[in-house]
Amino acid sequence: WDQDRIRNFCIIAHIDHGKSTLADRLLEYTGALSEREMTNQVLDQMDLERERGITIKMQAVRLNYLAGDGREYQLNLIDTPGHVDFSYEVSRSLAACEGALLVVDAAQGIEAQTLANVYLALDHNLEIIPVINKIDLPGADPERVKREIEDVIGMDTSECVLASAKSGEGVRNILEKIVAKIPPPGGLSQASLKALVFDSHYDPYKGVIAYIRIIEGSVSKGMQIKMMATGKEFEVSDAGIFRPTLLSVGELRTGEVGFIAAGIKNVKDCQVGDTVTDARRPAAVPLPGYRKVTPMVYCGLYPVDNIQYDDLKDALEKLKLNDASLIYEPETSEALGFGFRCGFLGLLHMEIIQERLEREYDLNLITTAPNVVYQITTTDGEVIEIDNPSKLPPAGKVEIIEEPFVKAIIMCPKDFVGAVMELCQERRGTFADMEYMSAGRVILTYNLPLSEIIFDFFDQLKSRTRGYASLDYELSGYKESNLVKLDIMIAGEVLDALSVIIHHDKAYYRGRQLVEKLRGLIPRHLFEIPIQATIGNHIIARETVKAVRKNVLAKCYGGDITRKRKLLEKQKEGKKRMKQVGNVEIPQEAFMAVLSIE
Ligand code: GTP
Repeated sequence: WDQDRIRNFCIIAHIDHGKSTLADRLLEYTGALSEREMTNQVLDQMDLERERGITIKMQAVRLNYLAGDGREYQLNLIDTPGHVDFSYEVSRSLAACEGALLVVDAAQGIEAQTLANVYLALDHNLEIIPVINKIDLPGADPERVKREIEDVIGMDTSECVLASAKSGEGVRNILEKIVAKIPPPGGLSQASLKALVFDSHYDPYKGVIAYIRIIEGSVSKGMQIKMMATGKEFEVSDAGIFRPTLLSVGELRTGEVGFIAAGIKNVKDCQVGDTVTDARRPAAVPLPGYRKVTPMVYCGLYPVDNIQYDDLKDALEKLKLNDASLIYEPETSEALGFGFRCGFLGLLHMEIIQERLEREYDLNLITTAPNVVYQITTTDGEVIEIDNPSKLPPAGKVEIIEEPFVKAIIMCPKDFVGAVMELCQERRGTFADMEYMSAGRVILTYNLPLSEIIFDFFDQLKSRTRGYASLDYELSGYKESNLVKLDIMIAGEVLDALSVIIHHDKAYYRGRQLVEKLRGLIPRHLFEIPIQATIGNHIIARETVKAVRKNVLAKCYGGDITRKRKLLEKQKEGKKRMKQVGNVEIPQEAFMAVLSIE
C-alpha cells in the first residue's frame, strides 16, 4: 500500500448518537463483512457491551474502499467508547488517527460528550468531518444541528454529511469525504521502526496481542523488537490486520494499523501508550505516551464465602490483562475478611467489572460503597492519600481533608435550567458559567465534588430533566472541604466496610437515613440488634432490629417433610448473599445502602 492511499480515522459521538451503527454500515458497504456474517454491531464485541448498548473497549478494523477516483484505499477505523468514564480510551485511539468523523444525532443535536470529544480531537490535530446522523427520524432537524455545530464548536458545516446509519443513506458520501479530507499518514518508511501501542488484549496461546499504529518504518514477522518503556526485547511471531477478526499478513508498513504478537506473556511488558521499536536499529526517542490513567472511584470487593478469595484474585488478574485501567490490591476488612480494594475510571466501569466477575467467573461478591481518593494533611504535616474511608487517621491527627473536584459541563433545554441548578446546589456545586446555544438549549458549567457525582448524580440529572440533559466532567483538582467520617455500628461493632467520608452538613441526615435503611435490610435474628451511626465518639442516630419471635419451621409443625425442606431451601437461598459479621448476618444490599440514599 502506498502511504497516500491509507486513511486512519475514528468516530467520535455522544452516547447513542449512532456511532456503532454507522461503523457497521461502513463495514457492510466496503464488504469487510458480508451481510450474512454481519451480526449487529460487530465492533462492540463484549456481550456486556452489546447488552448495555455501549462501547467500552475499542476495537479496530481495516476497510478496503474503491473510491470515486478509481483508486482503492485502505481505511483503518478505530472505534472509541462513548461513555464519560472511558474518555481516556478515546484519547488513545485519537493518537493513532489523522481524522475523525464527528457524529451528531439530527434530532438531539450537540451533547456534552460531543463537545468533550471534539476538544480531544482538536488537541490531537485531527481533521474533523461532521456527520449529522439519523436524518430519517421524524424529529430530525439537520439545519438546527448545523447551526449548533457552527455556534458551539465554531466549525464550518458547509461540507457536513447528512446521513442515516439506519437506512445507509449518506454512507458513500462519508467514505468519499474520508478519502478527500483526511490526510494520509506521514512518517518515513525507511526510518527505524516507531509504532504506537494503542490497545492490547491477552490471548492464552499467542500472549499479548498489541494493537499498533506504525508511525515510522515497518515491522514484520521474525523481527526483534524492543518495547521502549521497559527496554524488554521480543521476537515478532505474528503481524496482521483486523478484518475485523485477526488476519495475519506478515508485515505492517508506515501508516498502517494492525496487530503484532511476540510471545509477550506479561501485559506489563507491553503497556498501552508505549513505543515499539526495532531492537537492532532502535529509534532515538519514543513517541509521546498517553497521560497515565488515574482511577477516580474505589470500592472493596470481597468474596461472600472466603473460600473464593483465590478465585477472585485469579479473576481480577485475568480481567486486568485486558483492562489496564483496572487497579486492585489486597485489603482486609475487620468485618468482611480478605478481599481487594479496586480502583475504577468511574461508576459504570465499576459496575461492569463487578458484573463480569460474577457472570464470567461465577463469583459471589460483596461490594462496598464506592468512594473517591482523599488527601489528608496530618497534624505532623505529612500528606497522605487514602482510598478507603476506614483508613482515615483519627480526628485528632487530621489537620486538613481535601477532596477531588470536577469541572462538569451539563447541556439541557433552557426549561430545565432551574432543575439542574437545584441539583448541582444540593450536591455542593458552585456555579461557574452559563451559555446559550441555538434553539433554546443551554450549557451550564459547575464545579462539583467528585464524590457527589458518583452518588447517583447522573440518574438524578436524567430524571429531573426527563432525559434531556447530558453530562461530561473532568477532574479539576483537590480542594479542602469540611468532611467527617461517618461510622456505622452494628451490635456494638463498627462495620468498617460501611464507613463513609461525608460533608459535615450532610452527615446527620445521612446517618439517620442510613440506620433506618439498614434496619429494613438486616433480617431479624434471635436477639436484638442495635444499629448506630457515629461521628467520632458521638452517636447521631440509632435504630433497632427486633428479635424474631417465630421460627419459620413452626408453621410446618406436623406438616409434611417436603414442605419443610422447601422452606429450608428457600432460607438457604436467601442466605447466599449474606455475610456473617460477628454473630449478625448482613445481606449484600446493606453494603450498597449508602448509594441509594437521597
Ligand atoms: P455507544 O456505542 O453507546 O457509544 O452508542 P452509539 O453512538 O454507538 O449508538 P448506536 O450505534 O448503538 O445507536 C444508538 C441507537 O440509535 C440504536 O438504537 C440505533 O439503532 C439507533 N440509530 C443509529 N443510527 C440511526 C439512524 O440513522 N436512524 C435511526 N432512526 N436510528 C439510528
